[in-house]
Amino acid sequence: MAIREIVFHPNDTLRRKAAPIEQFDPALRALSKDMLETMQLAEGVGLAGPQIGVAQRIFVMRVRENDQRAEGDPLAGKPLVLINPEIVEESLEMVEGMEGCLSIPGYAGLVDRHQKIVVLARNEWGKPKRYVVEGYLARVMQHEIDHLDGILFLDRLKGDDKLFKVVEHEEEAASE
Ligand code: NI
Repeated sequence: MAIREIVFHPNDTLRRKAAPIEQFDPALRALSKDMLETMQLAEGVGLAGPQIGVAQRIFVMRVRENDQRAEGDPLAGKPLVLINPEIVEESLEMVEGMEGCLSIPGYAGLVDRHQKIVVLARNEWGKPKRYVVEGYLARVMQHEIDHLDGILFLDRLKGDDKLFKVVEHEEEAASE
């Protein structure tokens, strides 16, 4: 296992559309572990391939069990690895919420996201998975899937007044 270096905005890989993963091999499992470890060390709740300079369609996430925004969610506290994720359904209802990003340290912004989504993906073993997620978990997944398409939360701000400078290690600014 190894800690990977996180790349920061502005960066070319962060702006590229990442390629689908075709080989579900030990190297992919090692990459998944590295990403989970790197995310944990950086105190983030999500990390996508492009954020460590890997232009492939993979992200990891782990929402803290004690995060009020994920209260009662069965996926809270669980480390997840999503490969080639696709949003196949999304609610019409949008919700505004605060987001940060490990690649944009020191900032947070208010972004509209679908309240509920259905995501199809594979895990690191190639097993098909289906996630029905709402609220905060749905927000994190949308943020990470955006990363795979070269989109940052900055692109989704509705105005300059939606971006905030944050104090480091502030609880509210969990980064994705
Ligand atoms: Ni991010």
